[in-house]
Amino acid sequence: MSATAPPATAPLPVLDRLAGHLPELDQHIVAPILEDIERLKRQRNAVVIAHNYMTPDIFHGAADVRGDSLQLARLAAETDADVIVMAGVHFMAETAKILSPDKTVLIPDPRAGCSLAESISGADVRALRARYPGVPVVTYVNTSAEVKAESDITCTSSNAVKVVESLGVDRVLFLPDRYLGSWVASQTDVEVIGWEGACEVHERFTGEELAQLRAADPELKIIAHPECPPDVLDASDVVGSTSQMSAWVRDHQPARAVLVTECSMADNVAQEAPNTTFVRPCNMCPHMKRITVQNIRTALETMQHPVEVAPEIAARARRAVAAMLEVR
Ligand code: 13P
Ligand code: SF4
Repeated sequence: MSATAPPATAPLPVLDRLAGHLPELDQHIVAPILEDIERLKRQRNAVVIAHNYMTPDIFHGAADVRGDSLQLARLAAETDADVIVMAGVHFMAETAKILSPDKTVLIPDPRAGCSLAESISGADVRALRARYPGVPVVTYVNTSAEVKAESDITCTSSNAVKVVESLGVDRVLFLPDRYLGSWVASQTDVEVIGWEGACEVHERFTGEELAQLRAADPELKIIAHPECPPDVLDASDVVGSTSQMSAWVRDHQPARAVLVTECSMADNVAQEAPNTTFVRPCNMCPHMKRITVQNIRTALETMQHPVEVAPEIAARARRAVAAMLEVR
């Protein structure tokens, strides 16, 4: 290494990070915003943690670390930054705050919600516990801190079966995604009692549209997220979390693939799978799309919008999230 070379850990210059991920004109529009974000990160000792559904300018340009919900939770627990900017939706920022109560956690747009998180309240979980006494409550992380606080353990799409089986029981309450619940039930002997929540993005896919694609192109690989309805999962070759979906495409490089999930997934993995053509459908998550490089920069400038969780709720929710992180 020459004396002037940056250390191996130095982030790439912003234009290099964007190369191949954005049209050239867009790269030059985004680059100054990313320069500001880098300067502010250094000033604040901040880290930008990004979900796989972020647009490529955030995912490849602004993020320090990226991943699925489980990876984001682990990263939030491990970082030694003072400030975490969550480039994702509100429940992800809340999970980061639950795990790092002494850090400042910012969400660039507090309206970035989730239809699953809105489908159930803490009072609903208490009523279910009264109806099914002694049955453990496994809660998807796509929920509020209040709901996590009423739960025994959380799970994500990447570890749901493992978490359910880790409890060593015959039946569980599995909340709130009915489709993830039915997927888990199909993969285990444990009886799964579900709830009626659904993801507004994944519930729109149909098995019929995939059957038509398959009939037109028998070589097509169909890779789906387990928040999709059962007929979609039945029509798929692979089912997994967002990171598991990307990893499968990277590892197998099929000639043509459909990622049955949010549209940014294909954009973000495209360069690592140069031999793959991505086929639609995909759907946009309007909540994830509220996060932009502009509002990440504003969050770091103004320290808006800090996420707070009442200490008593955070302590109980932390137990449920920590129990999940113990499951390997
Ligand atoms: P993953 O944990 O698979 O990233 O999923 C999060 C999510 O919100 C999917 O809609
Ligand atoms: Fe929630 Fe669905 Fe958006 Fe994921 S894609 S954040 S589950 S609404």
